[in-house]
Amino acid sequence: MKLLVLGGTGFVGRAVVDEALARGTYVTVFNRGHRGTSDGVTTLIGDRTAPDGLAALHTGTWDLVVDTWSGAPTAVRNVGTVLAGRTGHYTYISSRSVYTYPPAAHLAEDGQLVDGSPDAEGTFDVDYAAAKRGAEIAAEQAFDEKALLARAGLILGPHEDIGRLPYWLLRIARGGTVAAPGPRDLALQYIDARDLAAFVLDAGAAGLTGPYNLVSPPGHTTMGELLDKCVRVTGSDADLRWIDPDTIAATGVAPWTDLPCWLPPGPAHDGMHRGDVSKASAAGLRCRPVGDTVVDTWAWLRTLGGPPYQRPDRPKPGLSAEAEAALLAA
Ligand SMILES: NC(=O)c1ccc[n+]([C@@H]2O[C@H](COP(=O)([O-])OP(=O)(O)OC[C@H]3O[C@@H](n4cnc5c(N)ncnc54)[C@H](OP(=O)(O)O)[C@@H]3O)[C@@H](O)[C@H]2O)c1
Repeated sequence: MKLLVLGGTGFVGRAVVDEALARGTYVTVFNRGHRGTSDGVTTLIGDRTAPDGLAALHTGTWDLVVDTWSGAPTAVRNVGTVLAGRTGHYTYISSRSVYTYPPAAHLAEDGQLVDGSPDAEGTFDVDYAAAKRGAEIAAEQAFDEKALLARAGLILGPHEDIGRLPYWLLRIARGGTVAAPGPRDLALQYIDARDLAAFVLDAGAAGLTGPYNLVSPPGHTTMGELLDKCVRVTGSDADLRWIDPDTIAATGVAPWTDLPCWLPPGPAHDGMHRGDVSKASAAGLRCRPVGDTVVDTWAWLRTLGGPPYQRPDRPKPGLSAEAEAALLAA
């Protein structure tokens, strides 16, 4: 089996690479070479935004291609033009953001989609949802409607470069009174990047195509369980102070960005944390327990000499010390 990962050295792409290596797959990655690659991987260098930046992809055949691109859809369109005749199966790592916002609770893959164009130069800064949808269309056109569209929800796990679970782990490790957004039993849906990787590799080998919502089943964990696991694994003396959603709203603290993973009960929470994943579950999606994700992410953080790498094109999530103090005072 020969796998090409377009990207492959960040968070999700790295998880795909590592899972494929563990399966004995021959792995090639294509990127600009800015970050290290796992041992045993062949690297092709190129820039998807540069003229002639795909030259390194002009030869070779691949059983599977996994594309983690999250910028302009034209980059997916262009790579599809180059690879389509030499690719057995193509997966685009998409997002549940392609559904019109806010998605209803229990929304399945036939939910209404935002508009997007395969020819758009739109990026995350312009309109993330439209860029992801445009890239899905580009992928389907290039691969003759046979692309797998892996619509991930919130992704957590080792090597996370957004900083959501790292925020909670590092904050709780510091100890003291921690502002914890309630209610404690608020259900969370997320997917460990390694479970996402396993699914797309299995699905690619089985030739699955079309859209799949990829997060854990509704109720896989709760805000309380997630933060309790963080306390336990860090060995912290942190005291979780549960704050109700109305109090949080009154202080102007922003859900999701200031309080990573958290959305107050209501439409936004329904859309993010109550999605339908029965199609993926029936196709073999397996989600490890939240404790494994927390333990392994903490173990990874502890191997670093300093703060984890933070993607420069995404806002750093979490509360400042001052904002947390104000929230606790409220
Ligand atoms: N985080 C979440 O909660 C979440 C939720 C839903 C969906 N998603 C989706 O999941 C995916 C996450 O992917 P990831 O960033 O973790 O993937 P990744 O493949 O691990 O990292 C990004 C890769 O892109 C390469 N790259 C960046 N700019 C490039 C360019 N101009 N030309 C060629 N290569 C380039 C980077 O290497 P170089 O810098 O060396 O080029 C790096 O290898 C995204 O598509 C995102 O939309 C994320």
